[in-house]
Amino acid sequence: MKQKHLFAMLLCFVMVLMLAACGNSTGNKGSTESTQQETSSDTDEAVSTTPASSEEAEPQTDTGTPTDTEEPTSGSSVLVVYFSRTGEQYRVGVIDKGNTAIVADMIVEATGADSFEILPQEDYYPYTYDELTDVAKQEQNENARPAYAGEVPDLSQYDTIFIGAPVWWGDWSMICYTFFENNADALSGKKLIPFSTHEGCGLSGFDRKLASTIPNSTVGEGLAISGSDAQNNQDSVRSRVNDWLSGLGF
Ligand SMILES: Cc1cc2nc3c(=O)[nH]c(=O)nc-3n(C[C@H](O)[C@H](O)[C@H](O)COP(=O)(O)O)c2cc1C
Repeated sequence: MKQKHLFAMLLCFVMVLMLAACGNSTGNKGSTESTQQETSSDTDEAVSTTPASSEEAEPQTDTGTPTDTEEPTSGSSVLVVYFSRTGEQYRVGVIDKGNTAIVADMIVEATGADSFEILPQEDYYPYTYDELTDVAKQEQNENARPAYAGEVPDLSQYDTIFIGAPVWWGDWSMICYTFFENNADALSGKKLIPFSTHEGCGLSGFDRKLASTIPNSTVGEGLAISGSDAQNNQDSVRSRVNDWLSGLGF
């Protein structure tokens, strides 16, 4: 029992550190044409509970192999690129579809876009939440560029590219920077629209960071959705996604 409390306290501590990290990265609103679309209840939410099913964690079976969602087929001029994790996630317990993946699918559904999932080339990301936060922190400290599997066959055919990811330590996950940098030339000149899922940090400057990583792009208005809403309140999330898309002209 004592150990359980200690574990819970440690997880809270980790989340507090993350929220401190996002405080550093959201202050530059308006430095690109992007604006963060987030309700204050999302961004200011207290996050002090433990993950729902931390004791049920099992080794992750994800092989890191690209799935069929990665093969653009429709000839659409819109693409959704996303990174997302299953396994144990904050506030939602063990999930078999990632929070960001849920939002990405809603965008695909509404726009008819093609999609590409950024999957690690070798899946070394831990299944349990607290171990994953450690690995993610280390990647951020090292400014790592983890390799991902596959590539979008032809980025040049897309005019608008939605790019989504979970907020990790107040920033894009490092593997997203690998994608941005590998495709910097192809992304240049495109309209890029960021979206995040998070548990308190909102868009965390995704728009600003995207604009500075791909300086010749036009970064559109981003959307931030709380991960637990993506899992548990899908009707309301779908309606927010659709409103946001309408505002973007879709
Ligand atoms: C490694 C890691 C770091 C995180 N850092 C933050 C953070 O800084 N701020 C925040 O609001 N949420 C943070 N979270 C919560 C995730 O952003 C949130 O659970 C997200 O919806 C997960 O999406 P996914 O299922 O698509 O991976 C973090 C989660 C993990 C696993």
